[in-house]
Amino acid sequence: MPHLGVNVDHVATVRQARRTYEPDPVWAAVLAELGGADGITIHLRVDRRHIQDRDLRLLRETVTVKLNLEMACWDEIVEIACQVHPDQATLVPERREEITTEGGLDVIAHRERVSEVIKRLKDAGIFVSVFLDPDLNQIEAAAELGADAIELHTGPYAMAKPGKDQEQQLRILEQAAEHVRRCGPELHAGHSLNYKNVVPVARIPGMLELNIGHAIVARAIFVGMEQAVREMKQLISF
Ligand code: PXP
Repeated sequence: MPHLGVNVDHVATVRQARRTYEPDPVWAAVLAELGGADGITIHLRVDRRHIQDRDLRLLRETVTVKLNLEMACWDEIVEIACQVHPDQATLVPERREEITTEGGLDVIAHRERVSEVIKRLKDAGIFVSVFLDPDLNQIEAAAELGADAIELHTGPYAMAKPGKDQEQQLRILEQAAEHVRRCGPELHAGHSLNYKNVVPVARIPGMLELNIGHAIVARAIFVGMEQAVREMKQLISF
């Protein structure tokens, strides 16, 4: 059964809407742990639109499960990661105009830069995951560059029309997952997963970690964080 990484970025999004102190992603992380989260995921964006440096620092001290930092290959952020030392760093592409991460990292086009960042993070003792589209060439390249894990982008699957289209996207994910297993890195997945679409992804053989944010935070507004996490954990536990 895959581990559940709960992304608490959107708790910070609500806080930053008023530039105030609440709601606090640090509190959210405590409740997520109480609900059974196996990890807490945050994205320290270059524009600091949600998670702030203070959140990362405090979460490093308070989170007792895996702390996963999503990050762009940006010098300032790489330096912060090496200082704060999350348990895992997940390399993602980042564009200022985007609402959320829009696609996997292109490790073929940015081979040298990605290789350098993976090396710096690994030298600092950080486990490195790379967020990729389910593309076999990208998977091979990331494995060659020394990625410890590959997180497959589930957005196209989640956004596809239920039925034939979604089945087809699931097949693409399954084939990519098999390739990740053959190449060696750990198999992770995430993006746009929710209570309705998560089970087939959780059942992909070898799936070790799912990172889920928006759907859990959205549900937490109505049922509370602990309960929202508990329900997601139940769905992916078999
Ligand atoms: N995985 C990665 C690499 C992401 O960038 C995000 C969004 O921050 C997620 C997982 C979580 O996506 P969602 O909020 O749609 O569940």
